[in-house]
Amino acid sequence: MSGALTYDAGVNPYVPHLAVITHVMRETGANDVKTFRVEFRDPSAWERFRYMPGQFAEVSVFGVGEAPISITSSPTQRGYLEFSVKRMGQVTTALHYSPEGSVIGVRGPYGNTFPVADMQGKNLVFIGGGIGLAPLRSLINYVLSEEHRAEFGRVRIIYGARSSGDLVFKPELERWGERADIDQVVTIDRPEPAWTGRVGFVPAVLKEVAPRPEGAVVVTCGPPVMIKFVLSVLTELGFAPEQVVTTLEMRMKCGIGKCGRCNIGSKYVCRDGPVFTHRQLLDMPQEY
Ligand SMILES: Cc1cc2nc3c(=O)[nH]c(=O)nc-3n(C[C@H](O)[C@H](O)[C@H](O)COP(=O)(O)OP(=O)(O)OC[C@H]3O[C@@H](n4cnc5c(N)ncnc54)[C@H](O)[C@@H]3O)c2cc1C
Ligand code: FES
Repeated sequence: MSGALTYDAGVNPYVPHLAVITHVMRETGANDVKTFRVEFRDPSAWERFRYMPGQFAEVSVFGVGEAPISITSSPTQRGYLEFSVKRMGQVTTALHYSPEGSVIGVRGPYGNTFPVADMQGKNLVFIGGGIGLAPLRSLINYVLSEEHRAEFGRVRIIYGARSSGDLVFKPELERWGERADIDQVVTIDRPEPAWTGRVGFVPAVLKEVAPRPEGAVVVTCGPPVMIKFVLSVLTELGFAPEQVVTTLEMRMKCGIGKCGRCNIGSKYVCRDGPVFTHRQLLDMPQEY
């Protein structure tokens, strides 16, 4: 999990690549999350944009500003990037109003990556809540790709959202649910008339499913309250803090370890993270 920056020396790191929105997918019933597929206007930009699951980019809407957004596509899906964006404030709202064909800015990739090499040969447990599935999706599709599937053991996915309308990536959840090499549980917080899946909060479902810690790595992302209870259930189930990986969302500005906006103690989340093990979190000041 190195925090090495990947922009070319001599190239101004604050100048974004121009990218065209080629496809917009509405994810949620409330239309507050959309997935944007983008392609670089200059194909040579790919040479400088080699990323791995867990990394993020600073995505800009010209005249409005920029925001750090996880790359939700997998590097095995070549020729485009995808970002799933929840409408929160200025930049994310402007993105939501950017139709196909719009040009946006993308600089990165930034941050460290999920520890893919350390996960080889292990069973993988993915635990996501709401739009927290976005960074996990990059790694899930990497692991499931033909090139890499044999490098990893069984895959278990536990994913939940407040309601069925808040579940993201529904077509993919269906495809993953049909695969024989994946055990998937999708849950919503409260019962709904047409819902036939699991009902209950993610930590409670995790406790019922009770994955075994031997030879496993957990990757989790979701709202802070979900992460807090998930970490405590994982400890009860016997997972060591070194076996659990999560990704943090701090406020950011530069994204490259220069401005000090995102620090927790001596760590810059943009450069030393956003991926941290539970062990690392326990050793950090509880400011996140
Ligand atoms: C590494 C990283 C990866 C991220 N990945 C994604 C992603 O894949 N999809 C996604 O939708 N969002 C993601 N975010 C969060 C996203 O960056 C913020 O929601 C976004 O910056 C808000 O920008 P805005 O201009 O729309 O909102 P603003 O106008 O800046 O703020 C709107 C509201 O959101 C609050 N806010 C802004 N930024 C944050 C933050 N980082 N954490 C908590 N509250 C915040 C503000 O206080 C305000 O209440 C990520 C953040 C980080 C650091
Ligand atoms: S966002 Fe500037 S140091 Fe991390």
